[in-house]
Amino acid sequence: MTLRFTNYLIGIIILIIAGCSQQPETVDELDSKVNDLLAQMTLEEKIGQMNLYNGFWDITGPAPQSGAAADKYQHLENGWVGAMLNIHGTENVRKIQEIAVNESRLGIPVLFGYDIIHGYKTLSPIPLAEAASWDLEAIEQSARIGAIEASAAGINWTFAPMVDISRDARWGRVMEGGGEDPYLGARIAAARVRGFQGEDLSATNTIAACAKHFAGYGFAEAGRDYNTVDIGTVTLYNEVLPPFKAAVDQGVRTLMNSFNILNGIPATGDAFLQKEILKGKWAFNGFVVSDWGSTGEMISHGYAENLAHAAQLAANAGSDMDMESYAYVKHLKNKVDSGLVDLSVIDDAVKRILRVKFELGLFDDPFLYCDPDREKEMVYHQQHQQAVLDMARKSMVLLKNENHLLPLSRGRQRVAVIGALADDNNSPLGSWRISSDDSTAVSLLEGMEPYGAEISYAKGADLITESATFLQNVQINETDKSGFREAIRVARRSDIVVMVLGEHGFQSGEGRSRTQLDLPGVQQELLEAVYEVNKNIVLVLMNGRPLAIPWAAEHIPTILEVWHLGSQSGHAIAQVLFGEYNPSGKLPMSFPRSVGQVPIGYNKYNTGRAIPQDNVFWSTYTDQLIDPLFPFGHGLSYTQFDYSDLSIEVTGSNQYEVKVSVTNSGQIAGEEVTQLYLRDVAASVARPVKELKGFQKYSLAPGESKTVVFQLTEKELGFYDGQGNFMVEPGKFQVMVGTSSVEGLSGEFTL
Ligand code: NOJ
Repeated sequence: MTLRFTNYLIGIIILIIAGCSQQPETVDELDSKVNDLLAQMTLEEKIGQMNLYNGFWDITGPAPQSGAAADKYQHLENGWVGAMLNIHGTENVRKIQEIAVNESRLGIPVLFGYDIIHGYKTLSPIPLAEAASWDLEAIEQSARIGAIEASAAGINWTFAPMVDISRDARWGRVMEGGGEDPYLGARIAAARVRGFQGEDLSATNTIAACAKHFAGYGFAEAGRDYNTVDIGTVTLYNEVLPPFKAAVDQGVRTLMNSFNILNGIPATGDAFLQKEILKGKWAFNGFVVSDWGSTGEMISHGYAENLAHAAQLAANAGSDMDMESYAYVKHLKNKVDSGLVDLSVIDDAVKRILRVKFELGLFDDPFLYCDPDREKEMVYHQQHQQAVLDMARKSMVLLKNENHLLPLSRGRQRVAVIGALADDNNSPLGSWRISSDDSTAVSLLEGMEPYGAEISYAKGADLITESATFLQNVQINETDKSGFREAIRVARRSDIVVMVLGEHGFQSGEGRSRTQLDLPGVQQELLEAVYEVNKNIVLVLMNGRPLAIPWAAEHIPTILEVWHLGSQSGHAIAQVLFGEYNPSGKLPMSFPRSVGQVPIGYNKYNTGRAIPQDNVFWSTYTDQLIDPLFPFGHGLSYTQFDYSDLSIEVTGSNQYEVKVSVTNSGQIAGEEVTQLYLRDVAASVARPVKELKGFQKYSLAPGESKTVVFQLTEKELGFYDGQGNFMVEPGKFQVMVGTSSVEGLSGEFTL
């Protein structure tokens, strides 16, 4: 750990202590406060708590049909607003909170929610990139920084983490999650909740988290956002739900339901998910918020007849707060009066919401998060830049490095840098950065400046034709190749070419599904044109989702996946390019060879015809291989890690210890992520060919060895059947431990 970073951590600890409040209350004390307040509330005031209104400026969904500003102010005065979103900055928040607290009869403070997806102003890498670090401490720290900045700006609730598992890179929101694997996704979900909520929710620098989208949203048919989800319950229990369960076990205070239909029922109106599983089996005592307009969208789904019916269905299904459908505020009272919604449903929802407000300390001080001095000090804090830089370095994945083209040797090579994304301060900020300031990332060209290399830059081609915004589709340059000539000229007289290609920051994210996963626009042509004159290419891929780049994987010697890395992007990439930081990331999602393979994941089931045949009658494609281009868990280093001596020992009833020896046989220090995969060979419900069940990240000096030890317990050995029962079954298990999902040492044991 560098001294600078140690100092930074000490700083963060001081900030955390400074944010601490007094001892939290006991559950009973809290319950009695909640009940006392509830007893004073009229039905309208209770229903009022169940409404989440958008603010007055930003929108993060379709423009609402109702909810004029004047109405919103009036509703605040009436005590009919439980929470608001997209209002930030201490001054703005204070203004609204003053109305709620001073004008309404009971003065119940409002929650202020915002999408702190990868930071408030200082942006860390997009969540998918952070997942590639497999570094839970760093991921927690990153969420912590988001919480520190957002809470200083008046926010007390984030709509994060998104914990949707997805194997479909067409779906634009894969950038927002932890990737394709439920085990990794669950560990990351817990880390992010810890980061946002800290130890004490009422501290001034922690905020309530929201695990979303409950549930199945990442399995949207054909990767099209908001689309139908039809999955079996085995998939639901084993793949979709584990990250939500991990978030609940970590104490997440809220969940958001999702836009999609899940097996015929819109998630917002799904009592099985929200009441039976979440609030029943899992005993979750926080509240559930709908997604933007998702209560009303049940009409379009063909599930609710009208908005009043939608309100009834959603409330009865356990959706406690309505975001931007205006269904509850308009119709719930009637539904209660006519006996279609029981008062106990309303009381339960309101208690949950009030409890979170008490836990946040808002009843002690509604302006707890409204200190302008703290806002000035914490937002864009210098220490946060250092932390997001560290996170960015950890998030890159070296996909390929033939002939050791990387690292570059400082000052001894003529380097051509080509690609519009190399000179882009905006794209690295990613898609979900509504709170931050556009064009504030360090571009790669800026990041390379201090290295004293002889660098010539040529854009080659524009990536987009018009400036892009969060609300609209980006316009991609599909035709203009006028910059190719200059790029070719520059490449020809250089020793090495760094080509920065990929997706614009607004090409992934919500509402940004793609049917193609190749390099957008004319970038592939540019790459091939440059390759004609100089084959020493380092391809720096900047994108928000796995891309299908088979030509590049075959021809380009070195490929570094950098994603959208946030505020410090350019510095972080330059440090990896010049060898100041040894890359250690591993893919959290498989990269397909072509879009036709998608959805694709490593933890697939075998078919009955899995073994290649010399005829066509086995499970394959006639025009493409079936394995991914770059598999889950893959990622290289500038050094080399050798695996040996796998051993498996029984340590108790249904308990095993798995050990492996790992040696850094290269010349420099590096970090490795050792991954353990299991297969339950024959079970009453067929299990995937491989499932991640453990991983460890650690650093080794050159020549150093380490014994990596994993403990397997029933938790790792078991699975859920289609009814949600957790089973551990005797029989043969295969174990693989190694450096990726396809490379490692194998063993087996019989339970
Ligand atoms: C819709 C998105 O699906 C959700 O994730 C987000 O939190 C809300 N909009 C609010 O911006």
